Parts: sequence; structure tokens; C-alpha cells
Amino acid sequence: MTATSHAPRVAVVGAAGWAGSRHARAFAAAGAKVTVLVEKDERGLALAQELGARLVPSTAELHPEHLDLVVVALPTTMQPVICADLLNRGFRVLTEKPVAADAEGAAVLAAASGVNERLMVGYTLHHHPAAALVSQWIRNKSVIAVSVRSVAHKQNVHSWRADPKEGGVAVVNGIHAIELVSSWFDGDPKLLASSASSSLYGSPVPEHVVCALEFPEGVVFTMQSYWSPWREPQGLNQGDWSLTVDVLTSEGRMLWSNDSLRVWERDGGQNEKTFDPSDLFLLQAEAALKFCRGGTPAVTFAQALRATEISDAVRADALSRAEGMVSP
Ligand SMILES: NC(=O)c1ccc[n+]([C@@H]2O[C@H](COP(=O)([O-])OP(=O)(O)OC[C@H]3O[C@@H](n4cnc5c(N)ncnc54)[C@H](O)[C@@H]3O)[C@@H](O)[C@H]2O)c1
Repeated sequence: MTATSHAPRVAVVGAAGWAGSRHARAFAAAGAKVTVLVEKDERGLALAQELGARLVPSTAELHPEHLDLVVVALPTTMQPVICADLLNRGFRVLTEKPVAADAEGAAVLAAASGVNERLMVGYTLHHHPAAALVSQWIRNKSVIAVSVRSVAHKQNVHSWRADPKEGGVAVVNGIHAIELVSSWFDGDPKLLASSASSSLYGSPVPEHVVCALEFPEGVVFTMQSYWSPWREPQGLNQGDWSLTVDVLTSEGRMLWSNDSLRVWERDGGQNEKTFDPSDLFLLQAEAALKFCRGGTPAVTFAQALRATEISDAVRADALSRAEGMVSP
């Protein structure tokens, strides 16, 4: 595959799913030609007709000379093997986050050809206009603490999300914040505390996770992540995901809450900026089209792996605390 001037040709794997259908429509809206959908479910048919794409049942039917990018949006545990195979066959790939449900699962990808150059990891938060402003603001500040609340609305916790191998809410949702916050600080964070519960839906996976970590430079990162049966009044992804990132520094405080950003400066100054609701999948598709013309990935495999390693530590700690609890 070489950089070309025609509309980039894109295939979407897992195209009928929640994320896959958003990717497929977002790439079409961003000017790509969505030529192939890979989907086992018959819901893929209507989407293929809508987009003028061919529907195939397996990635074996994709050919590198006919595609500029393959987007993978499958249950997490399925993604590493499929992405590794696509990379080894010479494709450029955008994979949904996380790169794997755990670091062990990511090993197959780490060994794939071109993993650092031809794989972009779909951490959509990087494409929100507030993310760049926060990243810039905290540079050269004495950060004391970052506190995140991340709540995804789900009617049920079922299908692959309820499979313990997928890791539960910290791996599926909280990892967005783990990845973004860890991109601001160096080194391996130390886990200070964690707690997990499955009492909201009664599924076999952690549905509510709280953790506290400390980066080597002393920044404390606390996170609460849960799936909620209740929709929040505001949120990203058309209201499905409510995210608050509160950054406390010696020089001021910045609060990113969904589509608004507020700053308090030490001299008493205050500022608020409100953004139009962002279609994160569209913004990410636009960035991915630059990547597919040869640009560097917005989120690399190495950065995504770091988030997976941190979430592994949170999961293991929460599990050991739960096992260590003595029933009354
Ligand atoms: N960035 C975000 O905000 C966001 C939000 C939700 C999900 N995700 C990620 O997207 C991925 C998928 O999640 P989802 O909620 O869309 O799941 P989903 O269950 O809605 O969709 C998965 C799709 O994959 C299809 N599929 C399963 N096996 C297949 C196979 N072998 N070949 C082809 N198709 C197959 C299923 O039929 C289904 O349509 C996960 O990795 C998840 O973490 C990201």
C-alpha cells in the first residue's frame, strides 16, 4: 500500500456493533470510501447497503492492495490476534481500545510486523478539543492530583462485557482515562488502593471500580469508573458516557467535564469554555485518515500497552483485596 490521492479505502471489522457502526459512518462522513464491512451478524447487511460497501464474513477476504486502512472494533479479547494478522499481511490498522484485555493478550501484537508504525489505537478522548488544552495547560505546572469520574450508561452488562476474560469496567471504560492521564506523566505509577464491586447488575465482572495511583513525580491519580443503569444529564458519545477530569496544581485548577472546561488561576482569574458536542468517532476518523496517508499514529501501541499494564495492576489488586476479605 502506498500513499494515494484517491479517497482512502477503508474496511471495518465488527461493523454492526456499537463501535463498529459508528466507525463505519464516521469514516464515510470524513470522506473515506468504506468499501468492505466484515461482520458475522445479519445486521451488517443494512449498513453495507447504506454505505455501498461489500459485506464479508472474515478478514481473510481483505486484500492489502485494495485497502488503505482496516478498522477493528471487536470484543477486546478477539482484537490482538486479528490485528497482528492484519499487520503481518501489510495493512495499516486502527484498532479499538484497549489493545488487549491484559498485557499477556497484547504479546501477540507486540511481535507483529510494523506494530509501532502501522497500528493506531482508538483512544477517542485524545480527539476531544478539551484534551489538547488540558495537556498543554498542565505542562510545567506542579500537579498535585488528577481525579477522574467516568460513567458509561448501559441497560445491561451482558454479552462479551460480562466475560471475566474481558476484565470488567476498568479495562473497558476506565482505561480511556488511565491512558490519557498516564500520557501526561512519566514512569510506572504505584497502586495505593483499589476497590471493585459487581453489585449494580450482578454480573461476573467488576462493574464499579475505584483506584488510587501515584506517579513517580508524586502526582496522585484517583479514578472512579462504572457502568450505570441511569443516563446522566450530559455526556460524551451522544450522552452515553459522562466524564469528569479534575486537575489540581499548585498554580490553579482545571475541570474538564464532558463538553466544558473551566480554569481557576491562583490570582483569582476564572475561565470557562464550552464546546459543541463532539462526535469523537468523526474526529478520530479524520486523524486516522492522516495516519493512513503515512502520518504517525495519534496513540501508539507503546502508549496503549502502558495503559493496559496499569489496568492489569488495578485489576489484580482489586481482585486480591476481594479475595482477602473475610466474610462476617
Ligand atoms: N471508543 C469508545 O468510546 C468505545 C465504546 C464502546 C466500545 N468500544 C470498543 O469497541 C469494541 C467493540 O465494542 P462494541 O460495544 O461495539 O461491541 P458489540 O458487541 O456491539 O460489537 C461487536 C461486533 O463484532 C461482531 N463480531 C463478533 N465476532 C466477529 C467476527 N469473528 N468477525 C466479524 N464480526 C464479529 C459482532 O457481531 C458485533 O456486531 C470493544 O473493543 C470496545 O472496547 C469503544
